[in-house]
Amino acid sequence: MSETLEKTQKTFEQLGVTRPEQVLQLFSGLRAFFDASALAAASTKDSARLLELHSAWSNEVSGVIQRIHENWVTSAPINLRGTSERAAKHFRVHVGVGVRAVQTLQQMGIHDASEVVGLFRLLRDSFDQDIQMDVDETDVEITRVNWLGRKTGILTWARDHWLKSPPAELRREVGRCFNELKAHVEQAIDNKHASVRAAEQVAQYRPAIQQTYAQSSGNVLVDVQGEQPILPPETTAIPTDLSLPGVIHPIGSHHLICQVLQELEDIFFSIGFSIVEGPEVETPYYNFEALNIPEFHPVRDDMDTFYIDLPKGAPTPLLLRTHTSPMQIRTMERQKPPVRVIVPGKVYRRDNPDATHSFMFHQVEGLAVDTDITFCDFTGTIEYFVKQFFGAGVKTRFRPSYFPFTEPSVEFDVSCIFCRGSGTAAGGGVCSKCKGAGWIELFGAGMVDPAVYGFVNYDAKKVSGFAFGMGIDRLAMLKYGIDDIQVFFQNDVRFLRQFP
Ligand code: FA5
Repeated sequence: MSETLEKTQKTFEQLGVTRPEQVLQLFSGLRAFFDASALAAASTKDSARLLELHSAWSNEVSGVIQRIHENWVTSAPINLRGTSERAAKHFRVHVGVGVRAVQTLQQMGIHDASEVVGLFRLLRDSFDQDIQMDVDETDVEITRVNWLGRKTGILTWARDHWLKSPPAELRREVGRCFNELKAHVEQAIDNKHASVRAAEQVAQYRPAIQQTYAQSSGNVLVDVQGEQPILPPETTAIPTDLSLPGVIHPIGSHHLICQVLQELEDIFFSIGFSIVEGPEVETPYYNFEALNIPEFHPVRDDMDTFYIDLPKGAPTPLLLRTHTSPMQIRTMERQKPPVRVIVPGKVYRRDNPDATHSFMFHQVEGLAVDTDITFCDFTGTIEYFVKQFFGAGVKTRFRPSYFPFTEPSVEFDVSCIFCRGSGTAAGGGVCSKCKGAGWIELFGAGMVDPAVYGFVNYDAKKVSGFAFGMGIDRLAMLKYGIDDIQVFFQNDVRFLRQFP
């Protein structure tokens, strides 16, 4: 395998790529390699070679494009993700249309004018898709080279292969379509250049604009109260070009944690669970005792939390809940079986922040109690949820565990979605996400301990049920390949924008 292709088997971390310029360089090397292969295959005039080439690059399971998606996009660190995602999309378009542009019309089996029109329409759609995702000058330049590049631009290839020797009866139509497309591409690139340049200009002025109302006196921004220029005139003068776009007020979107939560709610709602919420400030009775965790039980050490300073003589201490499990008790106190609820919410623990721990995080509690609920209902429900949430390909397993309020208790694992359960990273070596185990721990669960029913006046001889508690943040990390929980709480728009 060539050195260039070997790089696609490695992640940015393994390649030592840390800056967006390096990402673009990698893609440009790969493009040069593809271009050379496409031209070489085309020169043989053997259609089978081109089909092989297309499959080697575009095959959805093992093609190079799929590999770069896994190693260069999904596994890219947050600061490189946007650049690499856009570069990969550009590249996918280039390969898709490039394979056609190096063939002659005869090789593609195009024999009449309507097929010519269809071919050019496909090219134009691909181009529109390509340029639409450009957000800055660098992107527009990549699109320009992709389409108008002197040696390997798509239109250059199309001119060389479609225009030079078309069947006589198609010559006029091919020429007309080509000129039309070329004019469209040139015009669209000019327009895009102008619009990204204008947006960059506006971004430059935004801090000044945000400090004042967009009120100008002549060409100078003024302070709202004092009507004084707030910066020296040369830095505040706003161009009077009225065709410039206005100040953009971005439309927000839901935070990824909310999106994941909504997805979870939809899945459980669809199988008969209702959604309840509870207090974040709890009493030790609900947070611990009624869950069969008496004072001095060692489990309390794992859930050290924040107690509220209360005036002397307060009837009970108060604490920030350490899990959503207190809502098991509150729900059963309020309602007779059958019970089927999920409880999403924030919880708190005095855990030191690291890549997988935060002192505030989100959980979803689940509780189902009725007269005839078995361990099979429990496993079936959980497996249904996991397949809906992660997709059918993921495998699941239970491991014995311990929680004072469930018996038996289990930890629920899923096969590692990063290495597909192999324990080996894409470029070889141990998978850093599952540490080579092939499995990732998802959450704790179990059958409700009969002792808990005693606290809510349920008859433990007549009812049975299961409960589970999932960390939503960790579910989101797993599903979207995020390797640091802290990014959820830092509010960096470059991260948030990736999940519109
Ligand atoms: C509990 O909190 C139990 N209440 C779960 C439960 C409910 C068991 C019902 C049985 C029946 P645990 O401490 O393991 O269990 O936390 C549950 C999940 O919360 C973990 O699997 C993990 O995904 C998440 N989690 C725990 N600590 C943190 C933390 N500091 N930061 C982020 N997520 C965390």
